[in-house]
Amino acid sequence: MMNITLRIRRFNPEILDEPRYQDFVVEAAPHERILDALMRIKRFQDGTLGFRKSCAHGVCGSDAMRINGKDRLACKTLVRDVAPKGEETVVIEPLRHLPVQRDLIVDQTAFFKHYRLIKPFLINEDPPVERERLQSPEERMAFDDATNCILCSACFSACPILEENPAFLGPSAVIQAFRFLADSRDQGFEERLPVLDAPDGIWPCQNHFECTRACPRSIKITKRINETKRMIQGVRQSTGQENPDSSKPQAPENP
Ligand code: SF4
Ligand code: FES
Repeated sequence: MMNITLRIRRFNPEILDEPRYQDFVVEAAPHERILDALMRIKRFQDGTLGFRKSCAHGVCGSDAMRINGKDRLACKTLVRDVAPKGEETVVIEPLRHLPVQRDLIVDQTAFFKHYRLIKPFLINEDPPVERERLQSPEERMAFDDATNCILCSACFSACPILEENPAFLGPSAVIQAFRFLADSRDQGFEERLPVLDAPDGIWPCQNHFECTRACPRSIKITKRINETKRMIQGVRQSTGQENPDSSKPQAPENP
């Protein structure tokens, strides 16, 4: 065990006017997670420290936060990866682009509003089938990585476009749209199109790749956004329409 310093951005709107940073020196082993250090602080030093966690195994998406300026899950970030010598101060902050409720807890209302807009469910008006709707392994693989999203909001925080334009649909909502658009059983392309093919829909993405770098599930987010752009461009071309915003970067062939 060694002592590490966590510099945590604290904010309680009920008692503070401004956020402030507070240092905690806490015991941690190099192989432990930052979540373990946060839980030790909460149990033994300051029970008022606010953060979310549930599964502690990278599955529920509750504990996304900024660790040394990068959007990560605290339960998947090892102490040795951010404080290899133990002397470094590790800065812990809440996710960006979402209002802070307390300390490291953000209000995800805007994130889930964007998520709901793209109708994240299978749309199929065919009569119910007797058993399941079959897919080939290739059809299933077409959207496989998009099914891994745990709605953690790390990509929402990492996205530089949301910094300038909070109305931008955001990476995770497009990933959820792609998950169904690329599903051979889904028929919801037309229903989702008005949300995706809008000035604040998919087009503001400029291929910064920050979302892809942040995603704890290794989803190829930027690639999927570009595949979705190409689906829309394909429909526009087949119906003789022009892209609505040709001044913005469009989908590259090889993202
Ligand atoms: S796409 Fe990745 S980073 Fe974004 S919400 Fe889903 S799991 Fe989190
Ligand atoms: S606590 Fe569930 S993903 Fe980290």
